[in-house]
Amino acid sequence: MTSEQLFVGVLERDDLPLVINRLHLTGCGIEIGTQYGRYAQTILGGTQLAKMFLLDCWDLVEDGDRFRNDSAFSKERLQQMEKLVRERFA
Ligand SMILES: C[S@@+](CC[C@H](N)C(=O)[O-])C[C@H]1O[C@@H](n2cnc3c(N)ncnc32)[C@H](O)[C@@H]1O
Repeated sequence: MTSEQLFVGVLERDDLPLVINRLHLTGCGIEIGTQYGRYAQTILGGTQLAKMFLLDCWDLVEDGDRFRNDSAFSKERLQQMEKLVRERFA
């Protein structure tokens, strides 16, 4: 399959499952920056991936300029997010 064929009909990021399926990927995936898991649901729901690791910084981090959680949510909100994702994908 050429790269041109691989991306036929791929217009937006929600079309990523098309690409994954055309490549016959069925192993493990990882999403870095899962937040509420909306996009993870799109990928898992549209592919045959066996497992997906969901990674986010669901906590406040104080590390000067080296690392900042870009979501600017409160600690409580981040904890709710993590709980929701854990329940959603249990
Ligand atoms: C715009 S949201 C995307 C959420 C999700 N991927 C979606 O499309 O629904 C970006 C997420 O990336 C996370 N993030 C940013 N930097 C990160 C890092 N270095 N490691 C892990 N997660 C990170 C943020 O906490 C935030 O939840």
